[in-house]
Amino acid sequence: MDLSKILIVGSGAREYSMALAMKRDSRVKELFFAPGNGGTSKLGTNISISDWHKLADFVETQNINLTVVGPEQPLVEGIVDIFETRGLQIFGSSKRASQLEGSKVFMKKFLNRYSIPTARFIETSSIETAYRFIETLNLPIVVKADGLCGGKGVIIAESYAEAKKSVGEMLSGNLFGSAGLKVVIEEFLDGYELSVFAISDGENFKILPPAQDHKRLLTGNLGPNTGGMGAYAPTPLIDSELLEKIETRIIRPTLDGMRRDGNPFKGVLFAGLMIVKNEPYTLEFNVRFGDPECEIIMPLFDNSIAEILYLASSNRLNEIDIKISNQISVGVVIASKNYPYSSSQPAEIIIDNVVHSELNNFSHISFGGVTADEDGKLFATGGRVMVAVGVGNSVREARDRAYLLAGQIHFAGKQFRTDIAYQALRD
Ligand code: AMP
Ligand code: GLY
Repeated sequence: MDLSKILIVGSGAREYSMALAMKRDSRVKELFFAPGNGGTSKLGTNISISDWHKLADFVETQNINLTVVGPEQPLVEGIVDIFETRGLQIFGSSKRASQLEGSKVFMKKFLNRYSIPTARFIETSSIETAYRFIETLNLPIVVKADGLCGGKGVIIAESYAEAKKSVGEMLSGNLFGSAGLKVVIEEFLDGYELSVFAISDGENFKILPPAQDHKRLLTGNLGPNTGGMGAYAPTPLIDSELLEKIETRIIRPTLDGMRRDGNPFKGVLFAGLMIVKNEPYTLEFNVRFGDPECEIIMPLFDNSIAEILYLASSNRLNEIDIKISNQISVGVVIASKNYPYSSSQPAEIIIDNVVHSELNNFSHISFGGVTADEDGKLFATGGRVMVAVGVGNSVREARDRAYLLAGQIHFAGKQFRTDIAYQALRD
């Protein structure tokens, strides 16, 4: 297996964290990023090719051994199919299999067909049908646009009028364009949320340490929803009995069903779950690592992630015994001033150069929304700028290290939550 040249598609801290983990394997000699960010330019070479056919040309001429895809958009657009047709090694889900994330209608119908637990729903493009079903539900009511809406396509309506208004706006195309021309309407599930990730090669799979994200912007779980303001793994909110249920009722039947349907799922299956009275229900699937979940899971792999992803991309995941350390990892997202509402003025980033052996060995930064200038100075230019990650033997130790590091990062408008992992630290 030649792992010397690897291309990572994407531009966030998620992709940075994969690169950082891959670099621990001395067989990985050269990294490329498409398009990458100001941080990844220090780990390898950023290339600005966004046409997937042209990117495949680049991979061929550079003799790149493996391509790994971070975000959903290229997957849904079919980057994996384009690469595989040309005999190029790529880790990610095919265009068909990516419909698990790309279309809520596809996903809900699939779940129903295989009796995989999920909220009761209908899918429709008829406003009359939608209104009729809304009348049968209790409040609140969940309305979802079918297609990809950058994480904004879900509305939790607190009144019948609001549910109907949301449906109307989606179906007319006014709210989310063509992504909203079909809607899913479903019952509200009242419980707590959990993310479970599995790496699959289409046949074999391995479940990764369960992570908990923090979606709200502000400390105390207040403010608007975001892409995620911090996460930790593994979370003690899940015991082995619940994990077993998630595996046997959701992950395994999903992967088996996709294979039976002729769409074997190769890549990362990210199950967004709601746990109601200790029973797991599927809220959504993503076909990629979560961000910031990836940033905290990557440091927990004891073996080479480059090798794992290479084997998974060639249906050989059974050849490796994936080892996960028994440490805890906590990541605190450092965001820019106006996130998630609007972009912010570029702000120069200063990171204190404190020599602190505990920090140097057990914490690190994954860079996301940053740009490097000609002198290599970093500027915060994106929404989620970076993630301060701490690893330790307990949630508290990992959390303290992450926050110690977060305190050494400075730029105008810097904001972050101060309570990441609070649910694991209650008593
Ligand atoms: P989704 O993109 O489908 O995961 O939805 C985004 C968020 O909306 C989830 O993370 C939940 O917080 C919430 N949500 C979605 N569906 C439901 C549901 N049926 N019941 C309760 N909350 C939901
Ligand atoms: N952190 C959630 C996501 O990546 O969708």
